[in-house]
Amino acid sequence: MIVCRSHGEIEKLRRVNQLVARILAELRTMAAPGVTTQELDEAAEARVREAGAEPAFKGYHGYPATVCVSVNEQVVHGIPSTRGLTDGDILSIDMGAKLDGFFGDCAVTVPIGRVSAEASALLRVTEEALFHGIEAVKPGARVSDIGAAVQQHVEAAGFSVVREFVGHGIGTSLHEEPQVANYGPAGRGPRLSEGMVIAIEPMVNIGQPAVKVLADGWTAVTRDGSLSAHFEHTVVVTRDGCEVLTRLATDGEYVGTALSGSLSK
Ligand code: MF3
Ligand code: CO
Repeated sequence: MIVCRSHGEIEKLRRVNQLVARILAELRTMAAPGVTTQELDEAAEARVREAGAEPAFKGYHGYPATVCVSVNEQVVHGIPSTRGLTDGDILSIDMGAKLDGFFGDCAVTVPIGRVSAEASALLRVTEEALFHGIEAVKPGARVSDIGAAVQQHVEAAGFSVVREFVGHGIGTSLHEEPQVANYGPAGRGPRLSEGMVIAIEPMVNIGQPAVKVLADGWTAVTRDGSLSAHFEHTVVVTRDGCEVLTRLATDGEYVGTALSGSLSK
């Protein structure tokens, strides 16, 4: 069953998702050569708790940290460590929080210092693909319309979509129905209706789509060692489209980089 949220519930979801987006924007500015991913995680947890919220990932199936930090060929679920970031790296930061019984979830991939032209194209295309997925969200659309839009954009750019991880409904649990794949034909799966809340999170590789999980049991990496990017927004279906709950309203503060002016919904 896919839950449709009331106005009061959506207000709570807005609050926690805005908190997550704001903290992610701060982490993004902190992320620089020499900074360790553990320092980012400590800052994230402190900010979450200061706001009276709780980390959503910490303890989830035993995950040990507040953020997932995935560097270069790491796709998702990288564990914070004393590894320092290096000029030219790309870093995916994924964070969830729980406030007043409701969950927020958002991810962004950021360049560290100066990155290659190929890496910056990967970041741009992945975030654009997320926006194409978001643009498919409206009442009456089918869940698979989202993945079809994502895949179309990614493959037109010559990159590939990761199959093993998907987006999800979100609300009073971090992961609810439906699953939101980032690939596949349009016109399948449940119909969206007003009040449904979903997290859309494409993972895109420069090379082949295949991934494997490292011996730590969490970190997913590309099998071919190619770079990978990940962007995620939580959205609520509205009467005529959707509202991006993890989009920051203040100009210039938005966590995204590409197409940030084009989302008027
Ligand atoms: N972005 C992933 C998700 O929303 C992060 C989950 S990490 C975990 O599903 F640690 F909580 F598993
Ligand atoms: Co998610």
